[in-house]
Amino acid sequence: MQAYQQHYPNPPQALHAELDKLELDFLQEDLTKILESMTIGTERICTIVLSLRNFSRLDEAELKAVDIHQGIDSTLVILQHRLQATAARPEIQVIKEYNQLPLIECDAGSLNQVFMNLLSNAIDALLESNQGRSFQDIFANPNTIWIQTRRIDTNQVMIMISDNGTGIPEEICSKLFDPFFTTKPVGKGTGLGLFMSYQIVTEKHGGNLWCDSKLGQGTKFVIEIPIKSSILSA
Ligand SMILES: Nc1ncnc2c1ncn2[C@@H]1O[C@H](COP(=O)(O)OP(=O)(O)OP(=O)(O)O)[C@@H](O)[C@H]1O
Ligand SMILES: [Mg+2]
Repeated sequence: MQAYQQHYPNPPQALHAELDKLELDFLQEDLTKILESMTIGTERICTIVLSLRNFSRLDEAELKAVDIHQGIDSTLVILQHRLQATAARPEIQVIKEYNQLPLIECDAGSLNQVFMNLLSNAIDALLESNQGRSFQDIFANPNTIWIQTRRIDTNQVMIMISDNGTGIPEEICSKLFDPFFTTKPVGKGTGLGLFMSYQIVTEKHGGNLWCDSKLGQGTKFVIEIPIKSSILSA
């Protein structure tokens, strides 16, 4: 277009009008930006689709030796839209402390569902704790999720997901894993997330899931899971 305009600086009136209508100047300026955005957008779609495939593990056998960190990372990509900054708050920080883990023999699809439930609950608690706080206030003391993993003995690993959200009142701690227990408004929570997570970790994998929380300070969920599960392979 630029070469053409250089050689024909005075196009006929009809063409001039057409160029005005198209707002060619803006178009030329914006086009590269639009193409850049499209490239970034398609790259993000690729990452999300790959993560969804990885997350669901639909095309795989139920029992398989998998990299737990990959499952957590895919879950974080799927939840990215809830972590990023909005006009009312800065982005939620995710601090990962991954230690070297062996591959874990598990049903990766359902274990990923557990990570999804725990991370979604952490985000809900962080957003609730932001009520009445200004952007600056949250910026100074940011919403944070910590994810730690560690091998704890020859056949056990531990995955810890903590947040500095609302925390949980002591009197309801014993009800958390009950089916249909929720403190969220009608239509928002079904109260099945932790119940299902508990079944998946304990009954399906022979592991353990527990919670430690301080009201007003935050909550920690700990998953302990065997590296080789005698229940699954039985
Ligand atoms: N990280 C957390 N911080 C504070 N409270 C939490 C946290 N995780 C769970 N809870 C409390 O435990 C309750 C039960 O959690 P659960 O995930 O089972 O159900 P839910 O999130 O309410 O609904 P859903 O079925 O959609 O997950 C929540 O309603 C909330 O009160
Ligand atoms: Mg939940």
